[in-house]
Amino acid sequence: MIHQMTRSFFLFLSSRTTLNTFAQKWGLKFGASHIVAGQTMNDALRVAESLHSQGLTCIFDHLGEFVHSKEEAREATNAAIATIERIATSPLDIHLSVKLTQLGLSIDEDFCLQNMTDIVAAAKKHQVFVCIDMENYTHYEQTLRILEKLRQQNEQVGTVLQAYLRHAMKDLKQLHDVPLRLVKGAYKESEKVAFQKKEIIDEHFYRMITTHLKEGVFTAIATHDHRIIEKVISFVQKNNIPTDTFEFQFLYGFRPNLQQQLVQQGYAVRIYVPFGKDWFGYFMRRLAERPQNISFAMRGLLQR
Ligand code: FDA
Repeated sequence: MIHQMTRSFFLFLSSRTTLNTFAQKWGLKFGASHIVAGQTMNDALRVAESLHSQGLTCIFDHLGEFVHSKEEAREATNAAIATIERIATSPLDIHLSVKLTQLGLSIDEDFCLQNMTDIVAAAKKHQVFVCIDMENYTHYEQTLRILEKLRQQNEQVGTVLQAYLRHAMKDLKQLHDVPLRLVKGAYKESEKVAFQKKEIIDEHFYRMITTHLKEGVFTAIATHDHRIIEKVISFVQKNNIPTDTFEFQFLYGFRPNLQQQLVQQGYAVRIYVPFGKDWFGYFMRRLAERPQNISFAMRGLLQR
């Protein structure tokens, strides 16, 4: 009950445009630097180098969600293309994640598709894999429509499916040939579309992972939940699933010991590295997921 209330509170804060605008002026505060790589791409590259030296690969996410004009969306598109070009000059293995609302999805779907088409063309040229993050349910159908069109140009594009959605398994089967990141889901969704009970979501998540793994298509298992990770490891061992058809993914700053254990066991582990000025919404969603994450914020406050 208390967890539900804190979750709703932080998810509410995460969607406040005004707070995000203030946060841009403050710079990384309240301990956000524990989980956000910094404000610039150079900061992200420094983090990527350090992770690489520990046997980890990366996904870059240039943070930004509150985009209300075509100019802002075009700026974000250019920033994504610049990120791809920069990744291409680095010897490190780095993917790119994007959010469609940052690229104008709430303004006009065709305009967003055009922006994504430009990003995907740059990604194809430089052979950088692009993953479209999944946002709240309002944008779900549009995201899948855009993905389908983009995959006709470049197969190195995938997306995320959220196990809390009741119809996620049906969509997973339709996307059986698409490289997918599977997650539990980070937004507040209605009971009509999303399971609310943790045990049901966990069970659905595990079934989705094993279903996609059996297809032999690339599967990113994005979770900090050691119980799910242990079950997946048992499953892949028992079913001889080749280790180059999946990877575990973690958010930057979360469970570094577990990341290292997996690397030592020979599993591929990729870290999602967010950077940029728009850190506030991302930081609030992480606080919503797990009340214990508030310790980041408390430590951050005490350091000030
Ligand atoms: P969950 O938070 O359910 O925790 C389960 C258990 O694991 C806990 O009870 C605890 O025992 C243990 N645990 C978890 N975190 C721990 C910690 N830090 N320390 C110690 N123990 C811990 N969501 C979305 O909607 N769209 C997206 O595109 C993405 N993208 C994405 C990428 C990546 C790389 C990750 C890791 C996650 C996402 N997510 C996401 C977020 C995802 O949907 C989900 O909200 C969070 O990962 C939290 O759920 P978990 O599966 O990690 O475990």
